[in-house]
Amino acid sequence: MKVLLFGGRGYMGGQLRQIFPDAVAPSVDIADAAAVAQVLDAEKPDIVINAAGKTGVPNVDWCEDHKAETLHSNILGPLVLLEACRQRNIYWVHLSSGCVYTGDNEGRGFAEDDEPNFSGSYYSRTKAVCERAIREFPVLILRLRMPFDSSTHPRNLLTKLSKFERVLDVQNSITFLPDFLTTAEKLIQKRQTGVYNVVNDGAISPYRIMELYREIVDPAHRFARLDLDALPGVVRAGRSNCVLSIEKLKGEGITLQPIEKAVRSALSAFKKAASGSAKAETMNKNCMQC
Ligand SMILES: NC(=O)c1ccc[n+]([C@@H]2O[C@H](COP(=O)([O-])OP(=O)(O)OC[C@H]3O[C@@H](n4cnc5c(N)ncnc54)[C@H](OP(=O)(O)O)[C@@H]3O)[C@@H](O)[C@H]2O)c1
Repeated sequence: MKVLLFGGRGYMGGQLRQIFPDAVAPSVDIADAAAVAQVLDAEKPDIVINAAGKTGVPNVDWCEDHKAETLHSNILGPLVLLEACRQRNIYWVHLSSGCVYTGDNEGRGFAEDDEPNFSGSYYSRTKAVCERAIREFPVLILRLRMPFDSSTHPRNLLTKLSKFERVLDVQNSITFLPDFLTTAEKLIQKRQTGVYNVVNDGAISPYRIMELYREIVDPAHRFARLDLDALPGVVRAGRSNCVLSIEKLKGEGITLQPIEKAVRSALSAFKKAASGSAKAETMNKNCMQC
C-alpha cells in the first residue's frame, strides 16, 4: 500500500509517519495543480493524506495577518487535491479541525453534521469553508482538536499550556495523538469516507490540565485562571472552546480513552522528555562555554 503524505514535515505529518513510515512525502505546494498532478502520476499512490495547511506560527493570530497564504493552503490546496484524486480515483484523507464550534451544544456535544457556529478567526473560517466544499465527495475528513502528546514539540498542547501564565477554565474536547493515530489507521484500513470527530472521551479544561501538570510534572509550576471575558485582551483572533460528540466513532466500534487518563499518561512521559531536553540544553550550554 503506497501512501503519499502532503505536509509531511509538519507536526501532524510527523505523527502520521509513525503509522506510515514508508510514506512518500513530497515537497510540493498542494495548491499547485500541475505539481500535484505530476507527483500523483509519478508515484501512483493508493492513498493520499493531506496534513498540509496553515495553522499560524506561533498561533492562529498569524492567519489574521496572512489571509492570502491561509486561503491558499487551507482552501485552494485541498480543492486541488480533491480534483486530482477524484480524476485518478485515489482514496484520500484530509485533516480538519473541531475549532468550528463554540459551546457544548446543550451537553450533547457537536456532531459531525451540526452546522459550524464559530467564525471568530480566519483560520476557523477557512477550515469550515473547506470542509463544507469537500465533504460532499468521497474523502475521509478527520477532525481533531488541540492535539497533544508527550513530546516537547512547540505545537503540543501540553508544551503550549506550560508556557502560559494564565489559562482558561472552559471545558473542551481534545485529541491525544497516539489515540488519534490508532483511530486514523482503523478508518483508513476500512477506506472509510465522511467526517469524523476524533477526540478523546469526555471533556477537560486547560486549567485542569495545568493542575495535573503541577501534580505530575512540576510542583513549583505557577499559573492563574484566565476568564473567558478577558481572552480578547490577550489574543487577536477568537478562540474556539467546544465539546464534540464522539457518537459517530462509537458507531464504528471506536472509542478513544477517557480524557483525564490520556492527559495523565501523556504528562508522565512528558516529564521524562522535558527533563531529557533540559539535560541536553545544559550540555549544549556547557559545550558553548568550553
Ligand atoms: N496542530 C493543531 O492544533 C491542529 C488542530 C486541528 C487540526 N489541525 C490540522 O492539521 C493539519 C496540519 O497541522 P499541523 O499542526 O501539523 O501544522 P504544521 O506543523 O504547521 O504543519 C503543516 C505543514 O504543511 C505545510 N504546508 C503549508 N501550506 C502548504 C502548501 N500550500 N503546500 C504544501 N505544504 C504546505 C507546512 O509547511 P510550512 O511550514 O513551510 O508552511 C508544514 O510543514 C492542518 O490542516 C491543521 O488545520 C491541526
